[in-house]
Amino acid sequence: MSNWLTDGIAAAVSKVEAQASRGGDFPHITQDGKWCTTPDGVWTGGFWAGLLWLSYEVQKSDALRTAATSLTDRLLPRAADAINHDLGFMFYPSAVKGWRITGDDRYLRAALTAAESLAGQFNPQGGFIPGWGFFGSEDWSGSVLIDTLMNLPLLVWAANHGGDARLLEVVHRHAKTALANHQREDGSVFHVYRFNPADGTPIAGDTYQGLDAASAWSRGQGWALAGFAMLADMTGSQEYLTAALRVARYVERHLPQDGVPPWDYSAGGTPVKDSSAGAITAYGFIRLWELTTDARHLDLAETMLQALCSRCLLRDDSAPILAHATADLPHGLGIDESTIYGDYYFLKSLLALRDIKDQRESGARGSFVQTSAG
Ligand code: GLY
Repeated sequence: MSNWLTDGIAAAVSKVEAQASRGGDFPHITQDGKWCTTPDGVWTGGFWAGLLWLSYEVQKSDALRTAATSLTDRLLPRAADAINHDLGFMFYPSAVKGWRITGDDRYLRAALTAAESLAGQFNPQGGFIPGWGFFGSEDWSGSVLIDTLMNLPLLVWAANHGGDARLLEVVHRHAKTALANHQREDGSVFHVYRFNPADGTPIAGDTYQGLDAASAWSRGQGWALAGFAMLADMTGSQEYLTAALRVARYVERHLPQDGVPPWDYSAGGTPVKDSSAGAITAYGFIRLWELTTDARHLDLAETMLQALCSRCLLRDDSAPILAHATADLPHGLGIDESTIYGDYYFLKSLLALRDIKDQRESGARGSFVQTSAG
């Protein structure tokens, strides 16, 4: 096993243990290197609970299990959120994972409720789940964020665990809308696409966190790559696989030599990075490798993760795991800081890569490798 990989996992898990021992609310993004926390987990609470579950699986310590349980429990009332397109982010890494580990029926029921709440936001005229309700005093009911794709695996999971079959219809209709409108000729995706919410007429591509409407916001490319790859895996759709491969080729063509994405691939030569985009994209490449067994996907994942370990992993006693993430540059939030989603996908990807390497080394690889990616 590569040293950088085992070192990276150990460093990440030890930071999660240290943060868990401090207790407190949900880490979100940092300001001047210190976590800004939220009492209810805003849209990111699932990633902190998820990091605790992942670390518990590595260390099997009672303290981590207690923290993971407590933070997951605190999220459960959010399952009924009526305007929240991030319910997949909030409940898949936390409640679904916690249910798989503990068998706690409360987690199963909360995740199923969250899936219903997410699907309940579907606009049947438009064929999409809108990004937000009102946000920044603006009506977002006709705005669809690429990020939402990565929330849809919760619906597929729920449909396979006693949820209504209509959940799958929502997945396919939303994904079809994203395929038709968000993805461009060159394989990249718009961050936002605006529609007339009354009848679903497409208006135009746009952005909120990217450079401009036509740009390729790097985290959005990561959400699209990983989201389409997961949905392809979970539903068997060739169309989603093709979409994921097209985003993958775009990223491959635009990834800088140092292996860490800029905050926006169109921001030519910018020194501002987004390590969270690197972690999410690496996860997408791992999922693509599982679907295709094409070695170039695994090589890209490895290159990106190795770059994060050497350039962004915080090896001091600070609380976050990855430096050089950018949450929202246009609005001046979390520039060259840390994010809990970057930290989560970093550890998730490292563990998935470790499992792949372990299975290869033990010669146990069959036609499909079951990793911790699921
Ligand atoms: N889903 C919001 C973001 O990636 O910042």
